[in-house]
Amino acid sequence: MPHQPKILSIVGARPQFIKLFPLSRVLRKHYDEKIVHTGQHFDEEMSDLFFNELEIPEPDWNLGINRGGHGGQTGRMLIELEKVMTEQQPDLVIVFGDTNTTLAGALNAAKLHIPSIHIEAGLRSFNRSMPEEINRVMADQAADYLFVPTQTAMDNLRKEALEAKAHHTGDIMVDSLELITEKAQKRNTLERLDISGDYHLLTLHRPYNVDDPEKLQLILNKLGELNKTIVFPVHPRTRNMISNKNIQIPDSIRLIKPQGYLDFINLEARCQKILTDSGGIQKEAYIQKKPCLTIRPETEWVETVHDGWNMLVDPGDENFARKISRFNPTGGQSDIFGRNVADAMLATIQKNILPS
Ligand code: UD1
Ligand code: UDP
Repeated sequence: MPHQPKILSIVGARPQFIKLFPLSRVLRKHYDEKIVHTGQHFDEEMSDLFFNELEIPEPDWNLGINRGGHGGQTGRMLIELEKVMTEQQPDLVIVFGDTNTTLAGALNAAKLHIPSIHIEAGLRSFNRSMPEEINRVMADQAADYLFVPTQTAMDNLRKEALEAKAHHTGDIMVDSLELITEKAQKRNTLERLDISGDYHLLTLHRPYNVDDPEKLQLILNKLGELNKTIVFPVHPRTRNMISNKNIQIPDSIRLIKPQGYLDFINLEARCQKILTDSGGIQKEAYIQKKPCLTIRPETEWVETVHDGWNMLVDPGDENFARKISRFNPTGGQSDIFGRNVADAMLATIQKNILPS
């Protein structure tokens, strides 16, 4: 076997496993790809389930770093990732999204003069109170190549004078969804979870929605006013708040464990509306033509709002429940996120970064 250039893909959180899986499949045909899992997400249903279901190769390293504040967590990732990168001397490092794992990976690669790609670059909420905003701004500065999902993200990078290293590849989550849709549709998710009749699907995990118990209680109470079955796979951050702060759950809201990707996509496909503060789920809602109500003051995925399929809602608004009930978009859609994105990324790597 001829020597293949070595790529180190660095992941740690649920959405990063979902972004990694379509790319890893194509990279491995041409490169020696190795995977580092920082350990940021560690529950079986937040991590192993994704590796098994999506047939992602077992990580070559799991650094087991998950507790502590932002500084402690990111700092320990820097220390441990430096050891792996120094020993492995990869030709290229790839980081995804906007978590602490992303920042640690991009910063380490820059300090060690290893070329790096930031996938999902250029997104901005312009809200510096979000840890994700700090992580993505810093990762875009540190990385050598920016793989950009949308035109808005390209425009953001141009305004920051970063366009010279930007490549408009499209959004890798298009491929993730495409690869599993058929299989997901065959799952008996609703039967298994004993869900019958119409329902809305809810996820919440942003610190500004769930870390303040009063805010979390307000959101759930307001959603209870809808008098509609709401299925709520609960993120561990939110689960911890609900149990530690004794949050009361309205009768219409059904708490379930975080679901695997196939079951979750099936829940999205069969629900009436999606209520969320997640980034990835806003995109999936758009692609699957589901009305999406985003419980946030702003979004990075502005095109989905402009096209009328996503609406920002504020639980402090007295018309919150009414706005959700009345939101029934029917308009057309545009090609926001691209197609065959893993292939586009591979071609960009082969042409501009690392001939295989
Ligand atoms: C992280 C990312 C966020 C991303 C989200 C995806 C940062 C700063 N935040 O947020 O950008 O949108 O992942 O889901 O990187 N926990 C468990 N079990 C797990 C995972 C987490 O108990 O499997 C607990 C942690 O111990 C911690 C809390 O949940 O107490 C939050 O986890 P953390 O990874 O710090 O942030 P997320 O809210 O998951
Ligand atoms: N997801 C999942 N199971 C769940 C909830 C979400 O598989 O119970 C998937 C969802 O389909 C999407 C991704 O997780 O692809 C979004 O991750 P998350 O909301 O944790 O993070 P964000 O996208 O906001 O960074």
